[in-house]
Parts: sequence; C-alpha cells; structure tokens
Amino acid sequence: MLAELYFKRRPGCWKMLAVAVCMVLLAGLQAQDLQGHVSVILLGATGDLAKKYLWQGLFQLYLDEVGKGYSFSFHGAALTSTKQGQEFVAKVLESLSCPEDVAPERCAELRGRFQQRSQYRRLRTSEDYMALSKDIEAQLQHEGLREAGRIFYFSVPPFAYADIARSINSSCRPGPGAWLRVVLEKPFGHDRLSAQQLATELRSFFQEEEMYRVDHYLGKQAVAQILPFRDQNRKALDGLWNRHHVERVEIIMKETVDAEGRTGFYEEYGVIRDVLQNHLTEILTLVAMELPYNVSSSEAVLRHKLQAFQALRGLHKDSAVLGQYQAYSGQVRREQQKPDSFHSLTPTFAGILVHMDNLRWEGVPFILMSGKALDERVGYVRILFRNQAYCAQTETRWVADQSQCLPRQIVFYIGHGELGSPAVLVSRNLFRPFLPSGSWKEVEDRPGLRLFGRPLSDFYAYSPVREQDAYSVLISHIFHGRKDSFITTENLLASWAFWTPLLDSLAHEAPRLYPGGAENGHLLDFEFTGTQLRFSQQQPEQLVPGPGSAPSPSDFQVLQSKYRDSPLISAWPEELIAKLADDIEATAMRAVRRFGEFHLALSGGSSPVPLFQQLATRHYGFPWAHTHLWLVDERCVPLRDPESNFQGLQAHLLQHIRVPYYNVHPMPVHLHQRLCAEEDQGAQMYASEISALVTNSSFDLVLLGMGTDGHTASLFPQSPAGLEGPQPVVLTRSPSKPHQRMSLSLPLINRARKVAILVMGRMKREITLLVSRVGHEPKKWPISGVLPSSGQLVWYMDYEAFLG
Ligand code: BG6
Repeated sequence: MLAELYFKRRPGCWKMLAVAVCMVLLAGLQAQDLQGHVSVILLGATGDLAKKYLWQGLFQLYLDEVGKGYSFSFHGAALTSTKQGQEFVAKVLESLSCPEDVAPERCAELRGRFQQRSQYRRLRTSEDYMALSKDIEAQLQHEGLREAGRIFYFSVPPFAYADIARSINSSCRPGPGAWLRVVLEKPFGHDRLSAQQLATELRSFFQEEEMYRVDHYLGKQAVAQILPFRDQNRKALDGLWNRHHVERVEIIMKETVDAEGRTGFYEEYGVIRDVLQNHLTEILTLVAMELPYNVSSSEAVLRHKLQAFQALRGLHKDSAVLGQYQAYSGQVRREQQKPDSFHSLTPTFAGILVHMDNLRWEGVPFILMSGKALDERVGYVRILFRNQAYCAQTETRWVADQSQCLPRQIVFYIGHGELGSPAVLVSRNLFRPFLPSGSWKEVEDRPGLRLFGRPLSDFYAYSPVREQDAYSVLISHIFHGRKDSFITTENLLASWAFWTPLLDSLAHEAPRLYPGGAENGHLLDFEFTGTQLRFSQQQPEQLVPGPGSAPSPSDFQVLQSKYRDSPLISAWPEELIAKLADDIEATAMRAVRRFGEFHLALSGGSSPVPLFQQLATRHYGFPWAHTHLWLVDERCVPLRDPESNFQGLQAHLLQHIRVPYYNVHPMPVHLHQRLCAEEDQGAQMYASEISALVTNSSFDLVLLGMGTDGHTASLFPQSPAGLEGPQPVVLTRSPSKPHQRMSLSLPLINRARKVAILVMGRMKREITLLVSRVGHEPKKWPISGVLPSSGQLVWYMDYEAFLG
C-alpha cells in the first residue's frame, strides 16, 4: 500500500525501478554464463550407493547451486543396458526429496527440472567415453555455454578403476580452462603396499588436485563440525585441549548389523581395514591435529593432519583386542562356499589403544572401537576431561553448570543411539560453546534421557538446524573444491603406514567369539594399563584334556636349576619377564644403596621388549634417577631408525620413565653424518665414556640375548672382532642386515658384576640344546664365551626355549 502511494506520487521512480529489475534479471542471466556449465557423470548409477545417497546428493547440489549462475547436466552411467538403466534411474529420480522448507508443488517443479537435466547412458568402452565427451561438447555449443568442469563420481568396485581412469584421461577430459574432478570411493588398498600401487596407478591418469577420495565420515555433520568447533571456541579450548586436561578420547562406531551378504568383501578386509583405518583414523586426526591459524585453508588443514599422523606411536599386538560374532564363520561358509571345517580369523570387532608422541597428547589414551553385531547403533567422539576438583558440599547439592566434580566432557555425537540425531554436547560445567546459529540449534531437553552417565540437561546440546546426509555434504564440498574434506594420497599412505604393521602382526590371531547383540554382556569390555589393552573378562579357555595334551601354565612353577653351570630360571614368558624385572630392580636398589648409582647395559631386539614394558609399567619404585642406561650393541643406522636398538629402548622404556637425559648413553654410531666409519672412532669414544663413568668399567648388570646361531650382543660366530683383545668396544659385521654393528666386547661384558641372558621362544630351542653341551668355544658360539670373571651369570629362559 505504502509503496503504491509512493510511486503514484513519483512516477519517475517507476521507470527507475523497472530498469533496476531488468538489470538484476540480466545480471542473473549473465551470471549463468559467467559461472559456466558443469557435467556430472555418476559411474555406477544403478548401484546401491547411488540409489541410496548419490542421486539425492546430486539433486541437493542442483538445488543449492543452480540459482547461483551454474548450469548442470547429470549423466548416470553404468554397464547396465540402456533400457534397464533408464528405467532404474527414472525410478530413483521420481523418489528424490526436497528440504523440509520447500513446498510440495515447488519441489515437484524442481525435481522435474532436475529430471530434464539427467539422463542414463551405458558406458563400457573407451569409445563410449569419447562419445560422451562429444555429446557434452555438442550440448555446450548448442546451448552456447562455457564449460566450468566435469565431475566423475566412481561408485564402482576398485578393480574397475584403472580402465575407467584410462578412458577418462584419454578421451573425456574437459576442454582448456575447465576443471576435472574424479571422486573415488574406498577401499583404497588393503595395506600400505597395495594402497601405494593403486595410488601410483591413479597418479598416472590424474593430477593429485583432480582426485577426491571420499571418506563419508568426513561428511557427517558432527564430524565436519570438529574443526570449526575447535576454531570457534579457541579461547575456551586453548588451555584445555591437551594432556594436562584430557583424560582420554573415545572414538566409537558401534553397529547392530552384521556382515551377512557382504562376507566376500568383509573376509578380505575385516573391521580394522573397513572402519578403523579410515573413518575412525580421520576423526582421530581432526581431534588431535594442531589447529591451523586459518581452518578454512584446505592446504593448512591437510598439512596439519599429516603432521598428526607423524606423531602417532606405532601399534603392537598388545594395542588391540579383537572379536568376531559367532555366526560370522557360518555366513562366510555359506556365502563363499567354504567347507564345514572352515573357520575365519577375520575380526568383526576391534578395540585399539592409540597414543601420540607429541607434547600436546603424550600419555593421553585414544580409544578406537568399532564392531558389527553389537547391542546398539551409535557413533561418537567423546573427549573426557580430567577431574581435578574436590567439592566440599554433598553430591545432592552439586549443580550441573557450577560443580567441577561432575564429569566434564565434549561429545561430537555422530548419530543414531539414544539421541537419534547428530549433536555437539558440552558439559555445562565446562563452558557455553559457540556454534553458528544458522546451522546449529539448541536441543530441547528430553527428561529421562541420559547420555554418557549424565542427564541431557547437564549438557549444552546442539543439533543441526537441517540434518544432512554425509554424501550431500561431500558432493557440495567436491563442487566447491574443498580438498580438506577428502583423503589425499599422502594422507592415505600415512594412515596405511600406521595400520599395516599391526594388521600384519594380528593376521594369525584368533579373535574372541561373541554371541552378538545384547547377549554380548561384558564379553567385549576392555581395559588398558600403560600401552597395553586387554579384555576385562578372562575367556574360559578350553584345554583339551587327555594324553599328550599340552601342559598348561599352572602345571609349572618358576623352575630353578642350572644351565652351563650357572643358575637357570625358567618359566612361562609372563612370569619369566616379571621375575627378571624384579631381579633387575633388586640389583638396581642394591647398587644405588652401595654406590649411589646403577649402570645397566641393555640389548636390543624383540626379546627385551616385554621386559622394557614390564619395567615401564610395573616398577614404580625403580631408582631411575640414579640409573645409567648403556647399550650392549647397536646397528649402524641413525638412532631414529626403527631398526635401531636405541629406538626400541626409547619406544618401550625411555619415554615412559624419568631417567635424567645425561644418564642415557646411546652408542655413537652416527657421527659426521655417516654411520660407523672407523675414522670417526665411535667405538673408542664409547669406551672412553664407559671408562669415565663406570667404576672399573664394570657394569652392575649386563642384559644379553642369544641368537639362533649362538651370537650374543653383536658378536657373531666365525668373526673374531670383540672376542678377545684390549678394545672394550668394537665394530663388527653381522651376517644379517644391517651388517655393520657396534658392540661391547666379550672381555668388557665379562667384567660385569652380573650378566643376565634372556632367551625366549620356540625358535631358540635348538641353540639352547646345543649350547648346553658345548664348552668354551666363543669363536663358534660367542655366547659360550660369556663368563663374568668375578661376577655372576644367570640364565632366564621361557619354557618354549628351554623345553621346546
Ligand atoms: C562403511 C563400512 O564404510 O561404513 C560399513 O564399509 C559400515 O561396514 C558403514 O557399515 C557405516 O556407515 P554409516 O554411515 O552407516 O555409519
């Protein structure tokens, strides 16, 4: 009304308004030209993923972008015949839905337009790809459009990748000035090597910036919110997001479904490759990475993510617990036509304990867990903070937003579960978080609902204003070139480098069987001490009774007798290591009492690893502050090399204890930027250091091992170096790689007050037997030359090494 009056009085303004409207319309039309035309080619358009998510995601993309000056065409493609494919796609397009706020008639209209822009075609041969390219070009010409780019979405099994990639590269690239984006779905390899091979192959067809590897968890709204949340709440989180405040981080994805119908795939992958290596690891890096100054810079986010991978501490067998639902093997037998005797070792459940070696996260356990056939479907990341408060009032008077005694946690709730939708939860006693109000809204309280041990009302809780499926989010990110929501080659290989050693070491482990669903009870609960993870409940082991059955641990006690005229202690591995660790501690205490310090020389290799772990996690009274740690031998590799004995000592012992750094004495194998060069006199330097610090060059304790060829330290059969003579430390050659070594000599070892020789495992059985019979023949069996001149020698052997 008012406007009408205004224009009646000022007729000139009508003209001006009309001109303005025309200009806006014109600008809109020009904008279409300006932004250009995008062709999306959905490969595997008749598959499950396409039907469930991808067509809907493309429709959403169309709705979001078409008004901004882009034009689109969508090509559904597959191997299916043209007629069948067309029917299939037509049906899927009919079922597409609009956001809630779009009225039904408007939605029908938009869907109609999308249908017009979409078509199905069969794509098989490279000629088909050529024809597609020609058709796109013809359409562009016909409609007078400029090409902005082409998106190829590979929703096909990986074995088809190479052929398709070749065809796209050779005959379906867009013209000059337009971009190409290819979208790839996992699996991206099976381990480090296969991932590397696949990556190399793809790289021969596409540039890195052209590839978008999807991890659909990065499109889940709560996951996609982790970095923005950290960024927008920097002030509150700055002091909290670190080892001093975080007690632990849980990254969890529980499923109720099992693997039925997919056992062909699942048998090859298992839960670690299927979920942990990708989804949960991605989330882990988002939580753990250093926050870039500018979180909207893809390049910075990806760089920081990669740095987070580099800080991950290597995993070992004890970092994992594995399970398999009972029906699984039967399903595999049925679906894969396996014989009745077939039993799968593929885990369908895994709990993994991860640590990061950096100043922010050192010592904070990151628990990753996922499984099929569990009691509920839910996914979340939970950051639980340490509780450092004492509350003087009785618990009933604690108030959620004030009491520091109530649990303090931040949860990125990925979905499902009790809450039923994605959410971000922050305990009220932490801080009131900021979330962008356009996209996140406060969740209404639901009395009676408890999450993570607290009523919902204890949290500031936010959920998305508009719930979006992960694929819609990611398709939009592909369109906008947001590379940080995807997996780069470097990132992928870093993740496989982290997981592959664990996967290899677990390949033959039998997972714990679980019934599935609520019946699992506490069977899959696990707990950790230090770096070790184990199931909380002992599984009742079934020992087959009867003649000839293997002895069980309880049949033996620690056995004490003689071996080569010296005391022998023999036991099952765990007891043996515990006994040796106790003996070392007792020796250390005695030495510190008498001399004020304890000089311990340690071997490398795998046998001492459990000993180091035992000392690190069970011996709190150990006088580390007065202990000097020396190396018995070293491989001529840089100290940070995983092959280095010092690196083993560092990983399994040093980083967990408090030894003054000037008490740690690695062997100087790396001098003047070269390894074990005679001229650098590293051996002489080590000898001088020993003679300067160790009274009489007589160590309080030397821990040795015995090789299957009778070598000890790095003193090898048929090689005279170090067996006699005045040189306390020598350079030697090993028959196995790395060949160059540095070692304490036999005479120096024999000056020790005590020498302990640790021998473990069935592999050592033969040499143990042999050495028990030979005399003093160090040239043939250097171990036989170990005989402390005035000290004591004790053998520690597990039953497998001793009894076979
Ligand atoms: C996939 C796994 O990547 O993620 C499946 O291959 C798993 O095994 C699925 O079921 C879970 O995804 P979502 O989105 O249902 O949580």
